[in-house]
Amino acid sequence: MTNRSRLDSQPRIHQSAAEIQKYGTVTHALPLDLEEPVRLEMTEKLNQLLADTMTLRDLYKKSHWQVAGPTFYQLHLLFDKHFGEQAELVDTIAERIQLLGGLALAMAHDIAETTQIERPPRGREEVPVQLSRLIDGHQIIIRQCRELARRASTLGDDGTNDLAVSDVLRTNELQSWFVSEHLVNMPLVEAVEGSAAAD
Ligand SMILES: [Fe+2]
Repeated sequence: MTNRSRLDSQPRIHQSAAEIQKYGTVTHALPLDLEEPVRLEMTEKLNQLLADTMTLRDLYKKSHWQVAGPTFYQLHLLFDKHFGEQAELVDTIAERIQLLGGLALAMAHDIAETTQIERPPRGREEVPVQLSRLIDGHQIIIRQCRELARRASTLGDDGTNDLAVSDVLRTNELQSWFVSEHLVNMPLVEAVEGSAAAD
């Protein structure tokens, strides 16, 4: 029976078939001028960065929803802004993996098995703990970015080097500054040492 003879208007739902590419492999014959071993190593390292970035992205949304206290409004907004920027990075990293011929991790259980960021509890935590978790996540990603950038440069993968530095590193450096400044113990109403003008 040919395909043509089976054409009709009914949708063929509930289909399944074997995978057409195994995870952890790269496709051949890409016009990138990057050898297969280079693309294998880069896609593996980019998938680690992807898993950690997806986890930090979701940690920002958890923090956005669960934050409480006098700084609720500003942190609620800041966390969602950073969530959006991390979501953009997720797509940038995943599409680089695909264009190198690899396969990007996507699903939550695969991300949970891969990420190096510590799993937070389901419940609500105090603001300083939320902030500390976010900074720890940034630190893991920042360290990884620098190592990835150096390795990519050594292997001649300038595109991955640029992504690691210009996109991921710069964004995470800036976001970790914004978050860290909230952990400086500043008085809200009265200066501790009194004003200089009173002396
Ligand atoms: Fe929201």
